[in-house]
Order: sequence, then C-alpha cells, then structure tokens
Amino acid sequence: MTTASPAADSRPPSAGGPDPATPPTVWTRKHLLGLEDLSREEIYAVLDTAESFSEISKRSRKKVPALQGRVVFNLFFENSTRTRTSFSLAAKRLSADTQDFTASVSSLSKGETFIDTAKNIEAMGCDLMVVRHPTPGAPHLLSQHVGSAIINAGDGAHEHPTQALLDLMTIRRAKGRIEGLTVALLGDIGHSRVARSNIWGLLKLGAKVILCGPPTLVPKGMERLGCEVAYRLEDVLPRCDVINVLRIQFERQQGGLFPSVGEYSHFYMMTQERVRKAKPDLLILAPGPINRGVELTPEVADGKHSAILDQVTNGLAVRMAVLYLLTGKMAAAPSGD
Ligand code: CP
Repeated sequence: MTTASPAADSRPPSAGGPDPATPPTVWTRKHLLGLEDLSREEIYAVLDTAESFSEISKRSRKKVPALQGRVVFNLFFENSTRTRTSFSLAAKRLSADTQDFTASVSSLSKGETFIDTAKNIEAMGCDLMVVRHPTPGAPHLLSQHVGSAIINAGDGAHEHPTQALLDLMTIRRAKGRIEGLTVALLGDIGHSRVARSNIWGLLKLGAKVILCGPPTLVPKGMERLGCEVAYRLEDVLPRCDVINVLRIQFERQQGGLFPSVGEYSHFYMMTQERVRKAKPDLLILAPGPINRGVELTPEVADGKHSAILDQVTNGLAVRMAVLYLLTGKMAAAPSGD
C-alpha cells in the first residue's frame, strides 16, 4: 500500500527528528498500560513523535543517542515475533542497553513469582520494562511493585497499546486522517487485545468503528462503547475505509465458538471477491501473525490494498516514540563521568 501525504489532522512532525531535550509537553505519564487511559492529545503526541523517528530508520547510520545510558528489559511471558524484536531494535536505535528475559528458560520454573522475577531484574538496573503476559492486568500489577516504567506489550485479551498506535499511524499515513473514517475490526473481537486497544484509539480520534464477526466472537454490549456491531460482512463492506483483520485466537478460546474453520472462512475471510465489493481505496490491516486461507487469502494479504508490512515498519517508529516519551519523564541518565 502506498502512503499518502503527511497527516492532515495533526501537527506536522518536526523536520529533523525529535529533540531529546524537549519531548512533547502533553506527555506526562510514567507508564504506557493501555489506550483506554490516554487522551486524544496524548495519542497524537505518540503518532507525531513516531513520524519524526521514522526518518531515523531510513538513514545509513540508524542510531541516535536519545536513550544512551538507559536500560530496557523485554519481559515476554508469551511468544512474539513483531513486538519483541521491534522493541529490542527500537531501544538499540535510541542507544539504550537492551536485555531479553525468556520466561521458558527462567527460574519461574523453580517457583519464583512474576513480581519477584521483575524485582530481581530491576535490581540489576532497569529503567523500562516491556511486558507481555497472558493474564489481563499483569503489566498494571507490575507498575505497582517496581520503580521502572512499564510498557504493556499485550496482556491477555485486554490491551495491546503499541499495536493500536502503529495501526493508527498506518491508517493516518495511508488516508491522511483518522477522523471521519469508517474502520471495521473483523473476526475474533472477544479474545483480541488488539481490538480493545483499537476501539479506544479509533473512537478517541473520531473514527466510526464497526465490530464484525460471528455472534459468538463479538461480546454482548459492545455498542455501549459507541461501536456498531454487524454479523454479516457483506452488510458493512461497502462502507468501510479500513478493515483490520483479526486473527482467530484459538489459544484463548474454550472451543465450540463456531462450527469449523472452513465455515468461519466462508463467511468472514477477506477474499479478492469481497475486496471488489468494497471501496476502491480500501485499506486492509492485520496485526499479525496472519493465517493465510483462514482470515484472509494470500492474494489479499500480499495485494495492493494490504498495509500489513507497513504496519510492521511503523511499529518500530511507534516503539521508539514510546520509549523516548517515557524516558523523557525520568531523571537524567548517568553521564558516565
Ligand atoms: N502483532 C503482534 O503483537 O505480533 P507478535 O505476537 O508477533 O508480537
């Protein structure tokens, strides 16, 4: 998907990248736990900072000293390809020291608790912890027990704030705005942290949000948040500017929520035929990992409407922005003298 001109509904990004001494004054938070808490202005502060940082990744020398002397730990208690590696790379691009903690080979297997694990990591010197955990609220719990800044990298089916921020950045880049767009979240709404963070972010920025999927995968009462709910994709396709195709979260389901994968795909998979029934400039997102032939066909995943790999690229800039904004609230890093 080619990108449009700079965002029409925000302040323009600064020309030479952010000045590490002057993070946006609207940002005053120590942690990033979810988009439910963020204001529209705070979301734009992240998006605008990310726009400035995206330029760094195009340089031959892809590094700036903004986080020199800072230590970033990745604490992932669930698997990840995109989030973990892009946080790691984002921290390195900002000159922080990074360390990955791998739960499967840790002393958790000997009975050490989640909080004790985090406290021991903090005792080695840690400024930021990037936390993914299968339990909703786990990053929030850590934020009450350690002094480090906490970034939620996905907590159960609750929130995945940096995924939604990179989705918003991708939409704004492609469409030039978010306000007034109609965005459908398609598929397994009930088990998706990406859906929840997207709903908060899109509504705050003035998009119309449609939740579309089988009745068993769309929780009751979502209309109360301000979303439209639809069970037939064909009914909403012609109105959508953006469709965000969610993965079926088999690992969070008890089973029996739809008769078969084949039947799900028959009604909800994005196919070329369905793309033809949509607006000519339909933008298709998917947070990844994608299941080709289940949620979308390979032709759609790799087709001209797809921005799936742009999302990954933008994720790096968003994560640089988040690390930068959170460290901007900290006391100065040691000078090394
Ligand atoms: N979208 C996303 O969070 O991907 P990973 O699980 O690979 O990090």
